[in-house]
Amino acid sequence: MIELKGVHKAFGSKEVLRGVDLVIPKGESMVIIGGSGTGKSVCLKSVLGLVTPDKGEITVEGQDVTRLRQGSRERDAFLARFGMLFQGGALFDSLHVWENVAFRLLRGSLKRPKQEAREIAIEKLRRVGLTPDVADQFPAELSGGMQKRVGLARAIAAEPEIIFFDEPTTGLDPIMSGVINDLIREIVVEMGATAMTITHDMTSVRAIADKVAMLHAGKIRWTGPVAEMDTSGDPYLTQFITGSAEGPIEAVR
Ligand SMILES: Nc1ncnc2c1ncn2[C@@H]1O[C@H](COP(=O)(O)OP(=O)(O)O)[C@@H](O)[C@H]1O
Ligand SMILES: [Mg+2]
Repeated sequence: MIELKGVHKAFGSKEVLRGVDLVIPKGESMVIIGGSGTGKSVCLKSVLGLVTPDKGEITVEGQDVTRLRQGSRERDAFLARFGMLFQGGALFDSLHVWENVAFRLLRGSLKRPKQEAREIAIEKLRRVGLTPDVADQFPAELSGGMQKRVGLARAIAAEPEIIFFDEPTTGLDPIMSGVINDLIREIVVEMGATAMTITHDMTSVRAIADKVAMLHAGKIRWTGPVAEMDTSGDPYLTQFITGSAEGPIEAVR
């Protein structure tokens, strides 16, 4: 479904991606792990065409992502296939919860009549465990966990084929993280969606992943089924999983 081949990206003299190769088969849940600042978000943004690679190829079902012109109808149709849960929720403060959830159903190629968009929003809120009365509240009136649920409801509102989650549990306590992880897993399975999640939270990895890829020094250091992660024999991966200060990965002090 998604394929990256030899993807390079530098910002100024800083080479962030140095030949990333990654395949995400249709219907699978891939989790990308790696230290802060290793380029996980850059990888995700490059699949969406928000970052243009300097070199390499990115395809989604064979379609070359880098060839889609900004603002073109093809690009609009391309983006309509994706749902996205942003790091930190990224809800619009001035919009009601339901308008946040229905954001893409109120404009562009996915536009529906307002009443229908609201009904879909309420149904999606229910799916993530929120009651209909939340629909008419503002994001600031909700707890962090509820805001994440709203972000998740927005990501699935247009029933996307592909869903991206960028650090879905950042800022949540361990129990709420567990709830969100389980909800993500359930929804991805139930929708049959292809999912790409970025995290440094190992609990999320175990809850969400079919496959895992570790990004280190601009490349995919290790990739494989989540069940093989603990016995990989890769010292970098092992150090990351165990959170050890000792190992080949240098902690930036
Ligand atoms: N638009 C940008 N301009 C300049 N530097 C960027 C930009 N986006 C990301 N970077 C740099 O690329 C590196 C990787 O960033 P990112 O992908 O956000 O890391 P993470 O793995 O934590 O998600 C960081 O050093 C960051 O500062
Ligand atoms: Mg990031």
